[in-house]
Amino acid sequence: MKTILWATLTANGNYAQSGPENPPKKEALDDFFTRAKTAGNFIVGRRTFEGMRGNGGPGPFADIDIVVVSSSAGDIPGVQVVRTPEEALDYLKGKGHQTALISGGADIHNSFLGQGLVDELIFNVAPVLEGRGLNLLIDKENYRYKHVQLLDCTPLGGGVVQLRYVLENSSPVHN
Ligand SMILES: NC(=O)c1ccc[n+]([C@@H]2O[C@H](COP(=O)([O-])OP(=O)(O)OC[C@H]3O[C@@H](n4cnc5c(N)ncnc54)[C@H](OP(=O)(O)O)[C@@H]3O)[C@@H](O)[C@H]2O)c1
Repeated sequence: MKTILWATLTANGNYAQSGPENPPKKEALDDFFTRAKTAGNFIVGRRTFEGMRGNGGPGPFADIDIVVVSSSAGDIPGVQVVRTPEEALDYLKGKGHQTALISGGADIHNSFLGQGLVDELIFNVAPVLEGRGLNLLIDKENYRYKHVQLLDCTPLGGGVVQLRYVLENSSPVHN
């Protein structure tokens, strides 16, 4: 199964945080909905899921398998709760998905990156600068590098540029 990490970055390279002062860009959200629909799923961290859930309705994700990663949460109606990134992938593989979309937040993205569970990266660079913030990291302890190959670069409108990369020499431990 192919795994795609989808994230928005600020123009100064932070992992973008959204909130009242920096709401998500419509163009990026539209792209996420399209990709989630195509994949038929997305994987999300417990904290981001709680932020998205709003009034608890299924919203635009009614027919999509949502997998929430949490070490402690109990059952949540309408979604699958799993304990680890590997368990999230096993669950989606078991349901016959060909692609898993990893939608954030920072903890989840860094868990998948750190464990070498990402095949493709989609970064939406938003036209905003941020102060102190979050980062995407392949290793929280050491300096190291993983080279990526640019597949395409597409303006989404509203000043958002989408970069798509494949990881070179990724070890497909999740296949
Ligand atoms: N830039 C973007 O594309 C993007 C996308 C989404 C969110 N965000 C931003 O990201 C921030 C939220 O991210 P976050 O890092 O605070 O939270 P998060 O990644 O959404 O969720 C963190 C929670 O997920 C669970 N988790 C993470 N890694 C795990 C692992 N390896 N095994 C088991 N459980 C694991 C834990 O849940 P338990 O505590 O229940 O164990 C952890 O507390 C917000 O500022 C939001 O605006 C940005």
